[in-house]
Amino acid sequence: MKTIIEPFRIKSVEPIRMTTRAEREAKLKAANYNLFALKSQDVIIDLLTDSGTGAMSAEQWAAVMRGDESYAGSPSYDRFREGVQALMPFKHIIPTHQGRAAEAILMSIFGGKGKHIPSNTHFDTTRGNIEASGAEASDLVIAEGKDSTSLHPFKGNMDLEKLESYLETHGDSVPIVMITITNNAGGGQPVSLENLRAVSELAKKHGKPFIIDGCRFAENAWFIKQREEGQQARSIRDIVRDCFTIADGMTMSAKKDAFGNIGGWIAFNDDSVAEQARVRLIQTEGFPTYGGLAGRDLEALAQGLQEITDEDYLRYRIRTNEYIIERLDALGIPVVKPAGGHAVFVDAKRWLPHIDPLHFPAHTVACRLYEIGGIRSCEIGSVMFGRQPDGTEKPAAMELVRLAFPRRTYTQSHADYLVEVFEMLKAEKDSLKGFKITKEPNLMRHFTCEFAPLAG
Ligand code: F0G
Repeated sequence: MKTIIEPFRIKSVEPIRMTTRAEREAKLKAANYNLFALKSQDVIIDLLTDSGTGAMSAEQWAAVMRGDESYAGSPSYDRFREGVQALMPFKHIIPTHQGRAAEAILMSIFGGKGKHIPSNTHFDTTRGNIEASGAEASDLVIAEGKDSTSLHPFKGNMDLEKLESYLETHGDSVPIVMITITNNAGGGQPVSLENLRAVSELAKKHGKPFIIDGCRFAENAWFIKQREEGQQARSIRDIVRDCFTIADGMTMSAKKDAFGNIGGWIAFNDDSVAEQARVRLIQTEGFPTYGGLAGRDLEALAQGLQEITDEDYLRYRIRTNEYIIERLDALGIPVVKPAGGHAVFVDAKRWLPHIDPLHFPAHTVACRLYEIGGIRSCEIGSVMFGRQPDGTEKPAAMELVRLAFPRRTYTQSHADYLVEVFEMLKAEKDSLKGFKITKEPNLMRHFTCEFAPLAG
C-alpha cells in the first residue's frame, strides 16, 4: 500500500475553534508576539510540543478506572513497574511526576560543583538541573548532528573520540555518562545501537555509570530497525531491551514515548544509588509506589508502554514527519534532514538569510505561521540561547523552527494544511523584517519575554 494511514479511528473528539487572520494578528500582538502567551483556544494546530499532548487510547482510559489510589503498596505501581521492566530491565523503577523531576533526583546524587557531565546533547531541563547543582554540562554529539544538510542516518550519535578524551581530561570529576535518545535538541535524531554499545563500553572502561535519557526510546528503536545493519528482522521490543540492558540507569519523561499526559521515572540497577534516589523522592515527589503520580496515571502509562512499540503506529508516526519534510523540501524550504522522530525542523537561517540572527529569523517564521494559519510552533535559536550569562547577545548555532507532533492527535489533512500555510508564507517571507526583544527575564527568557516587530 502506498498510503500509510493513521492506524486508529477516532472515538472522542476535541473541536478546533477556527479563527480569522485578522483575529490571530490581534491575539499575537496582545501576546507581545510571544507564542507561549497565547491561549490554546486561539491556536488551530498546536505543534508547540509533543510532550504530554498526545491522545490516550480507549484501553488507557479503561486502565484509568482501574487506578488504585492507595498511598503505599498500590497494585497500580506493580503494573507500572512491570510495564517498564518488560522494556527496560532495571532493578529499581522509581516513578516521578515528569522527566525533569527524575533529572533533579539524578543530579542530587551525581551533580555538584566541579563535576563534569557529558551527553550527546543534554535537553534544556537536564542542562538546567546539572548547572543548578553547580556541575558543568557538555554536549559531545558528532559533527554531522549540527549540520542540518548532513544525511547521516544516526545524527544523534555521541562523538566517541571526544568522549574518550573528555573522560581522560576530566577523570574523577565525571560522575556519570549520559545520552539522550532520540536527540531532541539536535532535531529528534536517533542514536544507533552500535553507538550506544560503544558509549556503554567507554563508560565501563572508565568506571562511570551510563545513564540514558530515554524520552523517545520507541522512535529511536524504529530508526535502528530501519537504518542499522542486521536489525531489520528484529522486534522493536527486542531492540529497546538491547538499548537499555547495557545501561546502569535511565531518566524518562513518560509524556513522550509512554503515551502519558503526565509522568516519568528514574531507574537504576545499583541498590545504594536507588536508595538515595528514593529518599530524595520521598522529600520532593512522594512515596516510592506513586512518586508524584496518581494510581490512575501509573495505569495509563503501563498500558501506554504496551502500545508505543506497535510497529504500525511507529511507521505512521515517522511517516508523518517524512511526508511533511518531502513536501516542504519540494517547495524549496530548508528543513533538517533526514526526518527526526517527533518533529519537523525548519532551518530559518538558510530560509530567511536577510534577517540577522539577532533579529530572530526562526521566531519571525513561527509568528507568521501563526498569523497565516493559526499554527503554533517553537523557536529553537537565538531567542532561546542567545542571551549570555553576562547579559550580552550571541547568535545560536542554528535558527530552527520546531514543529513537534503530538502523538495520535492530528491527521494527514492537518499535515496538508500545514504545508499550505508554508506555501503562503513562502510568498511573503522576503518582506519580513524580524523582531527585537522589549522585555525579558534573566533566565529562560523564551517562555516569557516580549517582542516588537522591526519596522520596514
Ligand atoms: N529530556 C528530553 C530529551 C526532553 O525532550 C524533555 C522534555 C525532558 C527531558 C524533560 O521532560 O518535560 O517531562 O520534564 N521535552 C519537552 C519538549 C518539554 O517540548 O521537548 P519533562
